[in-house]
Amino acid sequence: MSVHVEQRGITVSTLKQMRQRGEKIACLTAYDASFAAVLDKAGIDVILIGDSLGMVIQGHETTVPVTIDDMIYHARAVARGSRRALRIVDMPFMSYSNPSQTIANAARLMQEGGAQVVKLEGGETQAEIVRHLAAQGVPVCAHLGLQPQSIHKLGGYRVQGRDEASARMMLDVASAVQTAGAEMLLLECVPAVLAAEITSKVNIPVIGIGAGAACDGQILVLHDILGVSVDRVPRFSRNFLHGANDIQDAVSKYVRAVKDRTFPAAEHSF
Ligand code: KIV
Repeated sequence: MSVHVEQRGITVSTLKQMRQRGEKIACLTAYDASFAAVLDKAGIDVILIGDSLGMVIQGHETTVPVTIDDMIYHARAVARGSRRALRIVDMPFMSYSNPSQTIANAARLMQEGGAQVVKLEGGETQAEIVRHLAAQGVPVCAHLGLQPQSIHKLGGYRVQGRDEASARMMLDVASAVQTAGAEMLLLECVPAVLAAEITSKVNIPVIGIGAGAACDGQILVLHDILGVSVDRVPRFSRNFLHGANDIQDAVSKYVRAVKDRTFPAAEHSF
């Protein structure tokens, strides 16, 4: 399949066009300027400055300790290194628990951190928060499925939406956040069949991680694809440095694998 190369920066509209023409969206996390430049050069469409930085950069056991100042620090660094990729920045734990706090923190991520989209984890109760942000002109990516900020409530990193009731609930929440104004969805650790159903039901780009091949795009944690994860590499990831000449080549191979649909394979899905 031929890939349309965006000369200027990628926007949310670019991603919507890619979804429409069936071009897969290749996304990775990054947390600093040097890696952001490598990703940009390799043709990554979206860089997520994820709160996974709490684990892979700061060495915490969970993402819970990450602060809004941490997110701004890393988002600024990535913004200095990238020109083309769309930058999505995570709202960390407890930074979006009521509308006024959410607006203030999203404004900081955009004004100080250069965020172009903010991402928040959430179920049905977050639709109201998404509505407030969208009304203020803040583009939002809603993160459904496994929500690592709730790890202490969940009790473990497990696939979500396996039974009928929770699958139905996720479908409903996906529609609710889209109606509330979300521009994108991210699905983490969701059965491939359910992710495919959500992707066909909504009309905004859906990015998956451990959510099967039918999503409009794929995202992985940079450190996992380079084999430098602190913990074991999750089953849904793949080490792209194996057989690559260098890091740039590994990232380019990941972009190609997403675009030509050879990643994710069945063994990366649930
Ligand atoms: O924080 C992060 O890196 C994420 C990815 C796991 C999608 O949210």
